[in-house]
Amino acid sequence: MTRPAPATDPDSDGLSLHRIGVRFGGLVALDDVSLRVPPGRTVGVIGPNGAGKTTLFNVVCGFVTPTTGTITLDGRALRPRPHRLARLGIARTLQGVGLFGGLTVLENVMVGAEHAGRRPESAWEALERCGVTPQAHALPGGLPYAVRKRVALARALVAQPRLLLLDEPAGGLGADEIAELGELITGLPCAVLLVEHHMDLVMAVCDEILVLDFGKPVAHGTPAEIRTDQAVVDAYLGAAA
Ligand SMILES: Nc1ncnc2c1ncn2[C@@H]1O[C@H](COP(=O)(O)OP(=O)(O)O)[C@@H](O)[C@H]1O
Ligand SMILES: [Mg+2]
Repeated sequence: MTRPAPATDPDSDGLSLHRIGVRFGGLVALDDVSLRVPPGRTVGVIGPNGAGKTTLFNVVCGFVTPTTGTITLDGRALRPRPHRLARLGIARTLQGVGLFGGLTVLENVMVGAEHAGRRPESAWEALERCGVTPQAHALPGGLPYAVRKRVALARALVAQPRLLLLDEPAGGLGADEIAELGELITGLPCAVLLVEHHMDLVMAVCDEILVLDFGKPVAHGTPAEIRTDQAVVDAYLGAAA
């Protein structure tokens, strides 16, 4: 094994995926995917359904062990485990919502605070940031879907992560709600890995985008570069138009 680079090397800061491959039996879900999420940056992964976005997300969360490739955090080798993410300063939301129906909004977010060893006041901060303070004492079941998604985001943010992982946060939201979500994400102090089918959101908030198609990287660049990339237009934008 090569020695990990010192954490002060700016090229190794943050999360790096190096030549990740994932097979499910005979199916190649990810093939030679490399990606870096530097501190404070927002990096998007897009691609059509089945492209391997959630698989990539699950690799970072530790739900899926890659068949090949390596992951580093600040230059140090990382084998992610779901229950250890918080300790590493990594928080996530999943596709859908997943709140506790019997707990209020505030209590749901407090669960996240407790889990991350944060003080209860941090729950209020997270609610405020996500614009759901007025709903603090409501049960999530009676709230609109978009509000519940914001509560789930607050529960992730309460840990004050340095890296936030989002899988399809725009799923099920209307255009205005997606625009609001975009503003919220843009204002976050942490790094973000955004796995998303919804092109407008990714284009609006990401510093850098990786495009997957059938598990393979087909393009990597700034939103402006991605928008005009012929392979992307053919594989993804063309199909969506
Ligand atoms: N646990 C699994 N077992 C077998 N195949 C899987 C599993 N998870 C995902 N796949 C397959 O891997 C491919 C990529 O899926 P996924 O990562 O969910 O794509 P996306 O999130 O981009 O829609 C798909 O063909 C999917 O059917
Ligand atoms: Mg998915």
